[in-house]
Amino acid sequence: MPALEELRAAYAAAGQDHVFTFYDSLTSTEQASFLTQLASIDPARITHIASSVLSSITFPDSTPGEITPLPSAATASLLTASSADIAKWYDAGITLLAQNSVAVVLLAGGQGTRLGSADPKGCFDIGLPSHASLFELQAHRILGLQRLVQDTTGVTKVVIPWYIMTSGPTRAPTEAFFSKNRYFGLAPSDVIFFEQGVLPCIDNSGKIMLDTPSSVAVAPDGNGGIYRALVQQHVLADMAARGVKHVHAYCVDNCLARLADPVFLGFASSRGVAVATKSVPKRAPEESVGLIVSKNKRPAVIEYSEISTEMAAARAEDGELALRTANIVNHYYSTSYLADIPEWPESYLPYHVARKKIPCTDLTTGTRIAPASPNGIKLEQFIFDCFPQLQMSEFANLEVRREDEFSPLKNKAGTVGEDDADSSRADLLRQGKRWLLAAGASFDDDVLGVEVPPLISYAGEGLDAAKGKHFSDTCLLTL
Ligand code: UTP
Repeated sequence: MPALEELRAAYAAAGQDHVFTFYDSLTSTEQASFLTQLASIDPARITHIASSVLSSITFPDSTPGEITPLPSAATASLLTASSADIAKWYDAGITLLAQNSVAVVLLAGGQGTRLGSADPKGCFDIGLPSHASLFELQAHRILGLQRLVQDTTGVTKVVIPWYIMTSGPTRAPTEAFFSKNRYFGLAPSDVIFFEQGVLPCIDNSGKIMLDTPSSVAVAPDGNGGIYRALVQQHVLADMAARGVKHVHAYCVDNCLARLADPVFLGFASSRGVAVATKSVPKRAPEESVGLIVSKNKRPAVIEYSEISTEMAAARAEDGELALRTANIVNHYYSTSYLADIPEWPESYLPYHVARKKIPCTDLTTGTRIAPASPNGIKLEQFIFDCFPQLQMSEFANLEVRREDEFSPLKNKAGTVGEDDADSSRADLLRQGKRWLLAAGASFDDDVLGVEVPPLISYAGEGLDAAKGKHFSDTCLLTL
């Protein structure tokens, strides 16, 4: 058991010894598990983080920096690129996949509070004819792509390892879902779960909050926790052992996500960049999306609130929004870039404040509080906060079509009216219809679309057998 006196001293030195308020009244089992948890936390680090986030709230940075669109040398767009360029990127990506040098990392540690489902978001059924969950769609996209690469290159075994980042709340149910569904046909040894870290929740004066008298209230450390987790959970070592050189990271809630997209991999690797992103065109000046921009000549993602209404509405020479690169959290990393994470200083990724309702124990009465309004702070890191450490020459962005690649599941259907199961399902069905029309099928006018399973087509290819078919209903495609 960790030494009580040492821990008391460390917490006292950090101004956090209130965590021991109820210690003497705990059972010996509770004391033991509490000390184990306290030993896993560095109280001085938490106090340091707390004081820096609280002072940045009090004294916000008043130097916004020079924000401009990404330089054209760092960007390309599938909306305007020549078919020859797209084919070149695609072929380059297929080659990397055939070399078994590509891995996919899924960010699935979020708690999906807006969606409000008890299960992890990836288990969600968006109401497709097949009732496939988001996890199933994504698993089958990997499986379909592995087969596609094998068929087109003649390589007998293509493996795209899938690293799934969970968090304390999502790990057990995510693993159980995969196991119940037999890993959706993937080899279990190529689906690797790992867990992001947690950080203590703090109150508005920077004090660590107690969940119960014998436990600290903790929350996942944000999707930026990926970097620390990749190292601490030995993911980078596993990638190195498998010969992985290129990594695609994406969010669980996007039913259209193209995992290990050959076009994106070929684009990024042919430019030799450390990091690349995908963006979609921002819909309108007032759309509240993060933007990928140049800030002080470095790549950065900014919140929509960081620019003026005039800047948001400014138009480029082509008439499109000048700042239009909406962030969809789809990243390419070279593993040589990720290999440097252990050298990153603590200041590399700042902490952000998320004010939340945090159930906790009242230190004076010992009673548990379920607050009706935000009473504390969850500390989060963001995955894109390392971008400003890159030179612009180490970074590239590929603009893709929103209707083909981005439809996030954020909200409960019938609440906000967008980015919910209804819009996700409709976007996927419409995409299937576009692919089938291009393949020579026809539809009754009132048919919204058809579900094309990823095992039949990864991105619209392989649908020749649908030529001449007619669809009079929304259905699951079988060929
Ligand atoms: P969001 O920020 O949209 O969070 O996550 P969320 O948990 O899905 O939903 P809300 O905000 O609670 O309603 C964007 C992506 O980042 C992942 C999510 O799983 C999602 O894929 N994420 C978020 C993590 O992996 N870890 C985190 O700590 C937070």
